[in-house]
Amino acid sequence: MQALHNKKILLGISGGIASYKSAILARRLIDVGADVRVVMTQGAQAFIKPLTFQALTGNPVHTDLLDPAAEAAMGHIELARWADIILIAPASANLMARLSHGFADDLLTTLCIASDAPILLAPAMNRLMWSNEATKHNSETLISRGITLLGPDEGEQACGETGAGRMLEPEDIRDLVIKFANSKSITQLANPNSTKLSARAQDNPAANQPSAYADHHASLAGLHFVITAGPTVEPIDPVRYITNRSSGKMGFALAEAAVLQQARVTLIAGPVSLPTPNGATRIDVDTAKSMHAAALNAVHGADVFISVAAVADYRVDAISDEKIKKSDEAMTLTLVRNPDILASIAAMPQRPFCVGFAAETQHVEKYARGKLVKKKLDLIAANHVGQPDNPVFGSDSNSLDIYWPEEGHQHIASAPKKQVAAELLDIIAERLANR
Ligand code: PMT
Repeated sequence: MQALHNKKILLGISGGIASYKSAILARRLIDVGADVRVVMTQGAQAFIKPLTFQALTGNPVHTDLLDPAAEAAMGHIELARWADIILIAPASANLMARLSHGFADDLLTTLCIASDAPILLAPAMNRLMWSNEATKHNSETLISRGITLLGPDEGEQACGETGAGRMLEPEDIRDLVIKFANSKSITQLANPNSTKLSARAQDNPAANQPSAYADHHASLAGLHFVITAGPTVEPIDPVRYITNRSSGKMGFALAEAAVLQQARVTLIAGPVSLPTPNGATRIDVDTAKSMHAAALNAVHGADVFISVAAVADYRVDAISDEKIKKSDEAMTLTLVRNPDILASIAAMPQRPFCVGFAAETQHVEKYARGKLVKKKLDLIAANHVGQPDNPVFGSDSNSLDIYWPEEGHQHIASAPKKQVAAELLDIIAERLANR
C-alpha cells in the first residue's frame, strides 16, 4: 500500500520563491497516494499560477475566502473539515506571523483556525528573516500550540546568501509527512468513530506538544532519563573561573521533550539561567567533578543517559584560596584533565543506553564517530558549531547528524531546539526498540 494512501492533505502555499518547489511537492505527495487540495495566498500567486496546481492535482485550487462560486463547490468550513493534515510549504515569515497571532484574514489562515487537523509548516525565508527575534518568537508560539515545523534547511538561498531558512527539498518534506502520518495520532484522527478533537486533546494529551511525532513516542513512557546540560565552571580563585558558551538550551529542550513523552527525567544542570522544565527533577552543579558525582549517583537503574553538557576538559590544578594578585609577569596556570563523565558511565557494567553529543567545528562526522567508538556509545548527536549564522552555543536552533554503530546515520534539519529534541528522542526510541 502507498505510504499516504487515502490521506487528505491540504497543501497551503504562501508567497515566496520556494513556491516553485511546491509543484514538485504536490506531485510527490500524490505519487505516494495522497489526495491533495491546494490553497494559495495572494503572495503565492505572484510566484506561481493556480493553474499549475490544478493541472498537477486534478482538483480546483482555492484562493479566495469570499468567492461565492468556490464556496458553492466546497465551502471553506467543509475544506477545513476535509483535511487530515494541513501542510503549508513554503511558510513565509509573514504567514507564520499571521498564524501565530490567530489571524483569519485570508482563506489559508482561516482554514488553519477553522480546522482541528494537525498543521505542518515548512518555513522558507531569507536567513536574517529566519533568525529575526520576531520570527523566533512566532515559531516558538506556533510550536507551543502543537504546530510542527519541518526545517528549514541551511544552505544557499535564492537571494545569493547562505544560511538557515531554505525550504526543505520536496522529497524530504514528503518523507516527514509520511513519518508523521504513520504515527499513532494520525491513525486516531482517521478513525471515523472518534471526533478529531477528542482524539487529539483527550486520548492523546501529548498531541499539543512541539513535535511531529507526539504519541509516536509512547515507548518512552515510564523510562528514566538522566540528562546533563549547560557548561561546567572550573574555578581559578574565589573570583575567577574557566567556562564555555553553553547556555543549556539544547539539554533543557531534551528534558522538556522527554517529560512530554511521559518519561521520568533527572536533569543535571551546570550554571544556566533557564527555568526547570515542568515535571523534571533538577540537580544544580557547577564543576565537572560535581557533575560527575551527581551523574554517577543518578544513573543507577536509569534507562537512558544523554550527555548534552559541555563539560570542561580541564580544571585548574591548584585553585587559589585567595584572589590572585596581578603582576607584570606572564601568568601560568597548570590545568589537569577532568574525568570523562560520559565515558565512565558508558563503561559501567549495568549501564543505561548512552547518548553523547559532539560539538565540532570541522570534520564533524570523523570526529563524532571517533567519540562514538572511543567512549563506547550507543548513539552520538553531532552539531556543527561556531558557524557565523548559527554558533549553536547559546542559539535557539540547531541541526544534528546522528550516528550510531555500523554506519547508522540520520540527519535532523535545522529547527528550533525543542523540535530537534523531539526528533532526537524519536531516533532514540527507535534505537532502543532495535537493541
Ligand atoms: O547549551 P547550548 O547553548 O544549547 O549548546 C548546546 C551544545 C552545543 C553544548 C550541545 O549541543 C553539545 O554539543 N554538547 C556537547 C559539547 C561537548 O562538550 O562536546 P565534546 O565533543 O567536548 O564531548 C563529547 C561528549 O562527551 C559530550 O556528550 C560531553 O557531554 C561528554 N563529555 C565531555 C567531556 C567530559 N569531561 N565529560 C563528558 O561527559
